[in-house]
Amino acid sequence: MSHQLCIVLDFGGQYNQLIARRVRECGVYCEVKSYKTSIEEIKKLNPSGIIFTGGPNSVYLEESPSISKEIFELGIPVLGICYGCQLMAHLLGGKVSSCETSEYGKTDTYYDKNDTIFGYIQDMPEKAISWMSHTDYISEVPEGFKIIAHTDNCPCSAMENKEKKLYALQFHPEVNHTEYGLKMINSFLKNACGFTGDWTMKNYAKTAIEDIKKKVGDGKILLALSGGVDSSVAAALLSKAVGNQLTCIFVDHGFMRKNEGDEVEKAFADWDINFIRVNAKEQFMSKLRNVSDPETKRKTIGEEFIRVFEQEAKKIGTVDYLVQGTIYPDVIESGAGDAAVIKSHHNVGGLPDYVDFKEIIEPLRMLFKDEVRQLGIELGLSEVLVWRQPFPGPGLAIRIIGEITDEKLEILQDADYIFREEIAKAGLDHKINQYFAVLTSMRSVGVMGDFRTYDYTLALRAVTTTDFMTADFAKIPYEVLETAASRIVNEVNHINRIVYDVTTKPPATIEWE
Ligand code: XMP
Repeated sequence: MSHQLCIVLDFGGQYNQLIARRVRECGVYCEVKSYKTSIEEIKKLNPSGIIFTGGPNSVYLEESPSISKEIFELGIPVLGICYGCQLMAHLLGGKVSSCETSEYGKTDTYYDKNDTIFGYIQDMPEKAISWMSHTDYISEVPEGFKIIAHTDNCPCSAMENKEKKLYALQFHPEVNHTEYGLKMINSFLKNACGFTGDWTMKNYAKTAIEDIKKKVGDGKILLALSGGVDSSVAAALLSKAVGNQLTCIFVDHGFMRKNEGDEVEKAFADWDINFIRVNAKEQFMSKLRNVSDPETKRKTIGEEFIRVFEQEAKKIGTVDYLVQGTIYPDVIESGAGDAAVIKSHHNVGGLPDYVDFKEIIEPLRMLFKDEVRQLGIELGLSEVLVWRQPFPGPGLAIRIIGEITDEKLEILQDADYIFREEIAKAGLDHKINQYFAVLTSMRSVGVMGDFRTYDYTLALRAVTTTDFMTADFAKIPYEVLETAASRIVNEVNHINRIVYDVTTKPPATIEWE
């Protein structure tokens, strides 16, 4: 694929992926690379712009991540953000010192728009809010640099050397709290680097389809379809490229949301692919009898899933390619070292050991989630499928606390359906990133009509998040919660109490098991 490239050099900050997403939002293709990438390799990649990310360190400590000064001599424009900004100053002979007053959060910032990188942003005022997070600051700018922003506490919040095309921002333009932040990134990309904005999902679809055709020839392809956004978009892309050389196996474990199994089947009914749905609910339920430990549940479902998939795949015989719905954040994260295992995630992509195939293809490997959605729309998938909220591989099985029974599954499906319906009616479905019901194992006393009840407590969970690694509980208006709760207790048997989960992640997780 030929398009201009921007490199985001990762110095270990927490917003690195966000920077890359913002660059893509500006219509510019970018890749995140480690700060350890050699200058030779960078030259080979031939980027039209480079961005240094933030990071948790102090530039003057010996062990802090750094890079050769040569990078500034390549003639490629560089933008340093936060730590990246300080590193640029430090390496080029400026001085970085410890702040007397650290700056955290929203900060009034004064910008110089006179013939600077900010000057291109016509509607930007000379004073606006930026989002800061630093305990060091640039106390002396390197030779040839001009200070182009400051705050009441910090004499240099941004600097530039226009001639050498070097720019540095002490604050984080990638976070929404920085007013005009995206426009600043865009200004760097378009005005300093000369990017034309050639990265669109329309172009991507076209070239990806051509590339897949070339690669696959008349080979057979197998894809595990979960009905989630990633596997659905991958299926759509491949079907456009190779039609019925593609077989999709959809293992319905019975723990989908209400009507969802049928919806997935319907969505692919008219596509020119081989679509196999395996209704395996009984098989899964029999393995889960008397199982109430969350990790055992997850492992049992994961293993059974592979078994069922394998049985079906064997019927097809040898395939040439197995598709995985890996997306770019997984690629970046897998390079980030070993995080502690909080829960063993089950993803329907990961089956390579169990099926005979020659090669894996990952057609979404370079895309962020929002790009995957745009691509889905471009390829003609329905809004409902494309905007489907994330759903865990083990499905409702991990939203029923304790042992799963048919009755509990039905209760949860009905209650969850009502909650989702009310969220959509209130117009919140695109604003809240994930929302669902959890059937707890707790029962309590209630009264209905003149009778005492002793029934289940249902929990409602709704979160807002950008990366699902941290999350806030959604501040749903009381009226919406009230309508949902009242409908659920009236329309679904065996629920007489409803609670709303108001914990953030951490310390809680999004799912309950
Ligand atoms: P937690 O509960 O860990 O969830 O805060 C973070 C996100 O991951 C989803 N999730 C899963 N996704 N397979 C998946 O594909 C899984 O086994 C799984 N478990 C949790 C969860 O819904 C949330 O979006």
